[in-house]
Parts: sequence; structure tokens; C-alpha cells
Amino acid sequence: MIDLSVHVDGLRLANPFIIASGPPSTNANVIARAFDEGWGGVVCKTIVLDSTKIVNVSPRYARWRVGDEIVGWENIELISDRPIETWEEEFRTLKMRYPGRALIASVMEEYRRHAWHEIVERVQRAGADAIELNLSCPHGLPERRMGSAMGQSPELLREVCGWAREVARVPVWAKMTPNVTNIVDVARAAVEAGCRGISAINTVLSVMGVDLTTLRPEPTVEGYSTSGGYSGRAVKPIALRMAMEIAREMGSRASLSAVGGIESGDDAAEFILLGASTVQVCTGVMIHGYELVKKLERDLRAFMERHAFRSIEDFRGYSLRYFTSHAELVAKKHGAKSGQDTAWSAERFIEQVDRESK
Ligand SMILES: Cc1cc2nc3c(=O)[nH]c(=O)nc-3n(C[C@H](O)[C@H](O)[C@H](O)COP(=O)(O)O)c2cc1C
Repeated sequence: MIDLSVHVDGLRLANPFIIASGPPSTNANVIARAFDEGWGGVVCKTIVLDSTKIVNVSPRYARWRVGDEIVGWENIELISDRPIETWEEEFRTLKMRYPGRALIASVMEEYRRHAWHEIVERVQRAGADAIELNLSCPHGLPERRMGSAMGQSPELLREVCGWAREVARVPVWAKMTPNVTNIVDVARAAVEAGCRGISAINTVLSVMGVDLTTLRPEPTVEGYSTSGGYSGRAVKPIALRMAMEIAREMGSRASLSAVGGIESGDDAAEFILLGASTVQVCTGVMIHGYELVKKLERDLRAFMERHAFRSIEDFRGYSLRYFTSHAELVAKKHGAKSGQDTAWSAERFIEQVDRESK
């Protein structure tokens, strides 16, 4: 009765659940594991033409725990340090073994048109079903004018997305950084440059904490640290807000692949209600393992059953209609009492909350 399959930008996915670019998609072995468990698609760890420049440090993760649970995760990890030739071979093997699964190549390059042409052409020749442009990694690479250094400027982003589109024969999604004042400006630039979809969000710039014994910031590498990227459940409200704004602005002009803090089928349902066609998971897989997809599917089906939704399209974007301006909320709340005193006071607000919570 319930159909979880998704048809988006010419891709057919068995379900809306995609592994986001990151450690859970770092090589062919783990990508195969994801397909075996039932994930609808995988975005590989971001590939670059010259991986010799990618030098990671350790430790590169810091976690925020509440009780036993990890609610937030900071990383200062860079993109893939594996050669593109290895990735090309692995793509070919994966496409042979899993022809029906969506394999999405995440790519990043420097600000050079021919470099973007080359990387897009190489991954699509190797079998990528779609390409996600990483214009959003917030640490390490912006120092070299890559990643979010490009994604924070609508002009640069428009140019780079245009370069990718000049040679792409498969759908191109642009992955947004949340570290901007207005996400809609950058998303619009990507769509105007020809991107079929928007992925949002990459990690939120953060400092995880300071160790009160050593007085050093975390994660500490030889006593020092740098700003990192925050992910996991703690970022979900930020990701939902950005998904909502992008979906309201884009309407049917672009697809939305939502990412940020998704760990349950209910989380996925919320993003779909705000317009997402697919949902991506990174930190949730690092915490719960690849088998998480089974629970995501089960929970999403249960949600759909409760509301008698038969397909993802039955409820995609349904809740967007309930967003409005604050002024409109005030009018809705108090408009009915026009002619009466509508002056705002703390006492009246508390009385009202008390009344409504009874
Ligand atoms: C350790 C780590 C490494 C990541 N590496 C990449 C990457 O190489 N490329 C990319 O586009 N996003 C990368 N991300 C961002 C995730 O794909 C995702 O956008 C973000 O973590 C929010 O989703 P989540 O809360 O499900 O993790 C990384 C995230 C983490 C935690």
C-alpha cells in the first residue's frame, strides 16, 4: 500500500534515504555496505583532482553528549584524501554491482574553470548518476578559497555552478553552507546557473568547547584547535529553517535534498513536509550504523500510515503553507478581537499559555 520510492531529477530511488558525503561514504566497501542495507542512494565523500594536498589531522572529532546520548558532533575533517583514479575504478565497480542504486559523486575544486570541467567529466564517465557540488565545507579548504569560500558568495557560486553545468550530462545538485546571512540568495544563484537541485545543509561553523583543566579548545591538536563543522541532532532546527526557506523560494524550480540532524523517520517526515524529496544522513550513520535505514523506513511508513499518505509526493511540502510573517501571526491571534484592547503584556501572554496548556 505505502510506496516510499522517489523519482527526482530523472533519478529513481527505492526510498528517500541517502547517505550524505562523509565518513560513511568514504570508499567502495562502505558504499556497498550502505546499498546492501537498503539505502536509496549514496553521496560519496568529496573528491578532488589532486588529493595529495589533502592532509588530515587527528583528533578531528569532538562530541557533545547529554547523558549517554551524542546530540552534537564537531569535525575538522577535510575532503577525501584518496586519488581520483581510485574513485573512478570504484565507481565503475559499484555501478556494475548496483546498477539500480543512485550513486552521487560529491566534487570540489579550486576556482579554475577547466578543473571543474575535468572533475565533472571524469566522475560522470565513471558512472555517477548525479553530481553534488561541494561549495560548502567550512574548515581547512576555505583557507585555500575552496568549499564554503565559494558557497558564501552568490557571484562565485553562480560562476562555478555554471562551469559544472557546461559539461554535465547528469543532474547537478549544489550543496549549501549554512554559514551565510541569507541561504536563499546562494540557493537562487545555483538554480539560476542551471543546478537541478539544492542539498542543504553542510555543517555549521562551531567551537565545541574549551577543556577547563588544560584551558585548551577542543578538538585539540598539539595543544591548538581551529573552528570546525557542527552536525548531528543539535543542528536539525537550523537545517529545517533553511530547508523551509529554500523550498518556499524555489517551489518546483529545483529539487531539495535535506540534510542536517536526521536520525529518525519522524525527522525525515518533517523535512519532507517542508519540501524535501530526499533526506541525507551522515552523523546519524556514524552513531547508529548503516542498519539505521531499516528504522528510518519503518518509522516513515508508520507516520504515513497514521495520515493515510500513500506516497512521498502525497505530503511533500504540505506544511510550507503554515509559515507566514510574524505580523500575520499577530493579526491571526488578535485580529478577531479588533476593536478590543490588543496591547501586549507579559501577564496576558502567561495567562494565555496557561489556558492553552490545560
Ligand atoms: C566527519 C564529517 C565529514 C564530512 N565530510 C564531508 C565531505 O567530505 N563533503 C561534504 O559535502 N560534506 C561532508 N560532511 C557534511 C555532511 O555531509 C552533512 O552535510 C552534515 O554533517 C550535516 O548532516 P548530519 O547532521 O546528518 O551529519 C561531513 C560531516 C562530518 C560529520
